[in-house]
Amino acid sequence: MSKIVVLTGSPREKGNSFAMTEAFIKAAEEKGHSVTRFDTDKLTVGPCHACETCYKTGEACSFADDFNAIAPAVLDADVIVFSTPVYWYSIPAQLKSVLDKMYSFCVAGKDIAGKGCAVLACCEEDDMTVLDGVRVPIERSAALMGWHMVGEVLVPGVLNVGDIDKTDGVAQAAALAAKI
Ligand SMILES: Cc1cc2nc3c(=O)[nH]c(=O)nc-3n(C[C@H](O)[C@H](O)[C@H](O)COP(=O)(O)O)c2cc1C
Repeated sequence: MSKIVVLTGSPREKGNSFAMTEAFIKAAEEKGHSVTRFDTDKLTVGPCHACETCYKTGEACSFADDFNAIAPAVLDADVIVFSTPVYWYSIPAQLKSVLDKMYSFCVAGKDIAGKGCAVLACCEEDDMTVLDGVRVPIERSAALMGWHMVGEVLVPGVLNVGDIDKTDGVAQAAALAAKI
C-alpha cells in the first residue's frame, strides 16, 4: 500500500477541487492507502528566498514556516497529488510557494526520485488549454524530480461551488485512486 500526500490549492472548502480531493482520498483510503492532506491555503508557506541554505539548519527551509512540516511528508511519500483550481492561468500562490520550496530537495541532494505524481485541476473557462498553466509546471517539475505521472483529472468549465457536480470530475478523481 502506498503513502500518498495530497497538496490542495483552493481556499474554498466546499469548492470544486475540494470535491475532487475528497472523492480521491475516500477511494484511496478504501483501497488501503494512507493519505496525508495539506490544505496550503490554511497553512503559512512563504516564498522561496533562493538562499540555498536548505537543510543546513536541519529543517528543509531556514525561513521556518509550515513547509517544514510538509517536506518530511513529501520525502516519505510514494505519491504526491496536487489538487487545485487555476488562478490567472497558473497555480494559486499558496500552492506555488510549496512547489517553489521543493527546490530545497534539489539543493540538499535529497533522494526524491521514483515517486508517483498526479494532478486534479479545474478552471472556469471551457478551454482545456487554460489548465496547461497548472498541468505543465507540475508535469515538468515532477519530471525534473524523477517522479512519474500516474494520472491527471483536468476539468474545464466550472466556476461556482457545485459546478463540478455537472461534470464527471468527481468520478474521475475517485477512479484515479485505482491507478495507484
Ligand atoms: C483569483 C482567481 C483567479 C482565477 N483565474 C482563473 C483563470 O485564469 N482561468 C479560469 O478559467 N478560471 C479562473 N478562476 C476560476 C477558478 O479556477 C474556478 O472558479 C474554479 O472552479 C475554482 O475551484 P475551487 O472551487 O476548487 O476553488 C479564478 C478564480 C480566482 C478566485
